[in-house]
Amino acid sequence: MTIPAELVERLRDARNILVLTGSGVSAESGVPTFREAQSGLWENFDPLQLATPEAFLSDPALIWRWYRWRRELVAAVEPNPGHFAIARLESVVEQLTLVTQNVDGLHQRAGSSDVIEYHGNLFATHCFNRCPEAAPKCPANKADSPPQCGTCGGWMRPGVVWFGEAIPPAALAAADEAAHDCDLFLSVGTSSLVWPAAGLGELAMQSGATMIEVNLDATPLTEQSHFVLRGKSGEILPELVNSITV
Ligand code: OAD
Repeated sequence: MTIPAELVERLRDARNILVLTGSGVSAESGVPTFREAQSGLWENFDPLQLATPEAFLSDPALIWRWYRWRRELVAAVEPNPGHFAIARLESVVEQLTLVTQNVDGLHQRAGSSDVIEYHGNLFATHCFNRCPEAAPKCPANKADSPPQCGTCGGWMRPGVVWFGEAIPPAALAAADEAAHDCDLFLSVGTSSLVWPAAGLGELAMQSGATMIEVNLDATPLTEQSHFVLRGKSGEILPELVNSITV
């Protein structure tokens, strides 16, 4: 893929970059996305049956096993060239903020630092009753059903954001600030359908940022983007970083 010269120039001149990623960036590692036909998680599982507090309360063991299945899947794969390219970009630009909607931790495994986990992390747990600093009574990853909270005895739950739940306040504030301050926004592997993450791009463009979308399919962000690179992030991102480093 030829990276447009004007895009390379904008990337080279950028002082403060925000990268927003979605499940598409982990697809080439073998982690299913959410909405892709046939393979997407939400194509095969009903999110309202698996990713809501109500669903958890109605059958904690089922939900726990489903997240354990996802944890084991992620633990068995490796970051791909797209993850590594973002980590490399972080090392060659003045300032980069990485906001991910992914809960797989693959960016951190690829070497990215200070990743803003907008939707939480699969490998984290917290007390369903929100006891501060709660620890599970037994090792979470071995349990067949949700472990109990060491403080209140209630359920421990996966540390991810479920439908109908708020984004962790610190992540929300940090991402908004980064969107406001960035001069270039790189949206990678997301359908740009889930809010409030889907609003970060607009916030950045209102502040004058250049918008670059790297995605396999068109999204609601495509038409507003200054540059669109259509294809696989694992193939495009290394070339994009090479364009300003080689
Ligand atoms: P989606 O499944 O909605 O979108 C994934 C996007 O990645 C699609 O637009 C694909 O075209 C694109 N894609 C797939 N493979 C790709 C590749 N190799 N390279 C580049 N792009 C690729 O997933 P998300 O946008 O991440 O939230 O979904 C957002 C949120 O919805 C998730 O974080 C999750 C889900 O419900 C919660 O659970 C709170």
